[in-house]
Amino acid sequence: MTRVAVVTGGARRLGRHLCEVLAARGYEVVIIYRASAGEARALVQAIIDVGGTARALQADIARAAQVQRAFDDVAAREGRVDLLLNNVGNYNPQDVTKLDPAVWDATLAANLSGAYYCCYHAIRLMPDGGQIISIGMAGLEGIRANRRGADYYVSKTGLLVLTRALAAGYATRHIRVNMVSPGQLENSIDLPPPDEIGAEVPLGRAGTLTDISQAVTYLLDATYVTGVNIDVAGGYRL
Ligand SMILES: NC(=O)c1ccc[n+]([C@@H]2O[C@H](COP(=O)([O-])OP(=O)(O)OC[C@H]3O[C@@H](n4cnc5c(N)ncnc54)[C@H](OP(=O)(O)O)[C@@H]3O)[C@@H](O)[C@H]2O)c1
Repeated sequence: MTRVAVVTGGARRLGRHLCEVLAARGYEVVIIYRASAGEARALVQAIIDVGGTARALQADIARAAQVQRAFDDVAAREGRVDLLLNNVGNYNPQDVTKLDPAVWDATLAANLSGAYYCCYHAIRLMPDGGQIISIGMAGLEGIRANRRGADYYVSKTGLLVLTRALAAGYATRHIRVNMVSPGQLENSIDLPPPDEIGAEVPLGRAGTLTDISQAVTYLLDATYVTGVNIDVAGGYRL
């Protein structure tokens, strides 16, 4: 039976790359996008052109009713979810002393509550042996004080706590729940210049999309691994 993967924020950037990797591994991919309809359509076509299966679904995952509608559609069309990949992660950094409550609400709604809504509905469509992989942000265990982007770091740390709780809760159904955390990717909006990146990243370079998909691919087959976060970050914030 074909396995079904649902990828949030899948139309562009890292999400797009992960959709292509999953399709190449034989997953039927359901791409959830919010505004990037053209990119989502183009990605579906690109996957079909190389022999894969994909379709795109529009939903704002910050809205519980829209997530329910999206997964109702998956239940009706695909009938199951083998993998949920929570890739949405909005980063609009402001100094914590000026952090607008509306920005706080929007970040937590998309990055944390939205991921939970997706987990809630996806798990109900999962067979025993399904899995969830969430994309985090490296350095979480340090729970460092970040003056910029506190809302983002709170959301990602919350996602790790949720990951571990779901891993414990659903282990008896062999549903594995893990996290993969990039540090500075080469498409980061606040990437330091190449001669300065070594100050933040001991391995001295930005991460590539392939660095991240390698870890995701590892988890797909790692049947004895659950509740972990894998930093794929060149030693970022060690
Ligand atoms: N890039 C980095 O350097 C870096 C570093 C560390 C961690 N990460 C993590 O890696 C993941 C991917 O990063 P990225 O930079 O590729 O992401 P991104 O470009 O900021 O966002 C990916 C997609 O998320 C979708 N999205 C945002 N809010 C949504 C909502 N409410 N409902 C549905 N979709 C929504 C957007 O879809 P539409 O375009 O359709 O609106 C967007 O295309 C994120 O979790 C991020 O936190 C990235």
